[in-house]
Amino acid sequence: MAELIPVENLDVVKAIVAEHKEVPGCLMQILQDTQTKYGYLPIELQSTIADELDIPLTEVYGVATFYSQFTLKPKGKYKISVCLGTACYVRGSQGVMDKVNNILGTIVGETTEDGKYSVDATRCVGACGLAPVMMVNEEVFGRMTINEVPAVLEKFN
Ligand code: FES
Repeated sequence: MAELIPVENLDVVKAIVAEHKEVPGCLMQILQDTQTKYGYLPIELQSTIADELDIPLTEVYGVATFYSQFTLKPKGKYKISVCLGTACYVRGSQGVMDKVNNILGTIVGETTEDGKYSVDATRCVGACGLAPVMMVNEEVFGRMTINEVPAVLEKFN
């Protein structure tokens, strides 16, 4: 995974806005690209986007908070996600999720204070044949059982 750009570096977000600004309805794309580069969308970046597009910050904030794909807080070094889509759910993914939170002392949607782990619930990730599915960053772990959770987390210690 590419290194994330520090939030203090506003040149990159300005370049992203400049690249898309003439396209109608470009805000989603700008937020998407900005999040890819910086990892999240703090208020500093939202406000730069608003300034560069000459639109109110509330409009940018409204979109950034409406769509679940956007995150306003930094994610952990290890981004853990457990699929709670139907196929995974009926095969016990909630138990997998509970076990993850139990071991790490995490809460869904939050990042640990040391910045190491964040835990999220996802919708179907398109790997239903492997249900229940858990991911750590880009790595997929299928047919998870509660008993296998400690071993998976151990790999990312
Ligand atoms: S429901 Fe989990 S991968 Fe489809």
